Amino acid sequence: MKSNYTAELRAIDRAHFFHPSTHMRQHAAGETPNRIITGGKGITIVDSEGRETLDAFAGLYCVNVGYGRTEIADAIHEQAKQLAYYHSYVGHANEPVIKLSERIVKKAPEGMCRVYYGMSGSDANETQIKLVWYYNNILNRPEKKKIISRWRGYHGSGVMTGSLTGLELFHKAFDLPRAPILHTMAPHHYWGAEAGESERDFSKRCAAELEKMILAEGPETVAAFIGEPVLGTGGIVPPPEGYWDEIQAVLRRHDVLLIADEVVTAFGRTGAYFGCQKYDIKPDLITIAKGVSSGYLPLSGVIVGEKVWNVLEQGSDQLGPIGHGWTYSAHPVCAAAANANLDIVDGENLTENSAEVGAYLQARMHEAFDSHPIVGEVRGVGLLCALEFVADKAKKQRFDPNLKVGPRISAACLEHGMIARAMPNGDILGFAPPLVVTKAEVDKIVELTEKAVAKIADDLVREAA
Ligand SMILES: Cc1ncc(COP(=O)(O)O)c(C=O)c1O
Repeated sequence: MKSNYTAELRAIDRAHFFHPSTHMRQHAAGETPNRIITGGKGITIVDSEGRETLDAFAGLYCVNVGYGRTEIADAIHEQAKQLAYYHSYVGHANEPVIKLSERIVKKAPEGMCRVYYGMSGSDANETQIKLVWYYNNILNRPEKKKIISRWRGYHGSGVMTGSLTGLELFHKAFDLPRAPILHTMAPHHYWGAEAGESERDFSKRCAAELEKMILAEGPETVAAFIGEPVLGTGGIVPPPEGYWDEIQAVLRRHDVLLIADEVVTAFGRTGAYFGCQKYDIKPDLITIAKGVSSGYLPLSGVIVGEKVWNVLEQGSDQLGPIGHGWTYSAHPVCAAAANANLDIVDGENLTENSAEVGAYLQARMHEAFDSHPIVGEVRGVGLLCALEFVADKAKKQRFDPNLKVGPRISAACLEHGMIARAMPNGDILGFAPPLVVTKAEVDKIVELTEKAVAKIADDLVREAA
C-alpha cells in the first residue's frame, strides 16, 4: 500500500471509526499506533507499510491455526456459494452446523450433549446467564438466580457479561456490575497468598471464601459459578494446585451450577482439547468462541450438559418454544469455517503441538527470566504464558502504575518486531502464540522478549538515578 494512501486511510479512521478498547481522544489526535493490518501468514502479520510483526498473541488469542490458511478461506467461499444464510429457528438447520455440533460434543468433556451458537464470547455468556435463570424457573426455584464470578475473571463486555468480568476497567463509568452478579476472590497465588501459604492451602482458602459467600447469600439464591479454567485477560494465571477440586466440592454441596468459560482455553490452548479436561473440571455448561473458528469468521457457542438439558427439554411443554435466539445463530458460513478450522486443529495435531511446544515455551521463559531482577513470576500452561514485573522481587512490591512498565515492555517488544500483550491489572506481559508455533519461533519470541525487558529495565534504572 502506498504511504500516502495509508495516511489518507488513517485520517478517515481517526474521523469515523470508533475503535474498541482504545483511548478515544489520543486516537482522534493521532497519538495511537493506528496500524492498518493488511495480511498475515503463519504467526506473522503484515501492515500497510510492509512491516512484518511476529504475533505472539494470535490476535486476541484466537488465531490458533495461524494466519493465511487458504483451506478455511476455500471452505467459506464454497459454503457462501452453496448457502450463505438461512436461520435456525423452529427446527431449521444446515449441514455444516449439524456436523460441527456432533464433533464438538464428541470431543467435549463427558456428559455434554447440545450446542447453542452465537457470534462472540460475550453473547455466549449472555446466553449462559439466561439458561441458568430459565433452568431454575422451570425447577420452580425463582429465588435461585445469583451468579458468582471471580475478581480478575474475564467473561465479556456486555451489560451482564461485563458485570461477570471482574476487572475494574470494564465496570468504570458503565454502572457495572449489576445485580445479581457477585465476585469472589481471584485464584492468584502470587498476589493472593499469605506469606508461606502453599498453593494447596491457598486453594482451600479460595473455596472457603466461596462457601462463606454462598452461605451468607443463602444457597437457595445462588444459581451458578462461572470461571475460566485458566484466568486469561486477568493476567494469564493457571489455577493453584487443587483449586478446581476444592471449588467443585463447594458447588456440589450447594447445588450451584458450574459454567466453564473456555473461550480462550478450548481447542488445544492448554495442551488438552478442553481446559476442563486438563484440570478435571466437570462443568454443567461450557462457553466456547475464539479457537472454534480461529477468528476466520465470528462464532461462539454454549455447550449444554445433560443435567441442564433434561430440565430445559422438560420445560418446553410448559413454556413452549424457548424465547431466545439471534438472526445469525448457527450461521452456515461460520460453521463451515469452524469445520475447516477444526480439520486443521485435528489433522495437524495442534493440541499435541500446544502441549509439546508449550512446555518448551514455559521452560525457555523460566530459564530466561526466573532470576531477572524485575520479573516476579513466570507462569503459564500450554501455549499461554505470562511474565509479571515487580519493582522489588524480595518484598513483592509492585511498580508505581504511573511508570506503565507493562505497556512500555509491550511497546518495546513491538519495536523489536513482536506483539506480546500488556494485560490489565498489573505489569504483566502475556503470550498466546498460534498453536502452529514451532520451537524455533519460540526461541525468537524469548530472544525478542529478553531484549525488550532489558531495554526497559535499563531505562527504569536511568530514570530512578
Ligand atoms: C474467557 C473469555 N470469555 C469471554 C470473552 C468475550 O469474548 P468476545 O470478545 O468474543 O465477546 C473473552 C474475550 O477475550 C474471554 O477471554
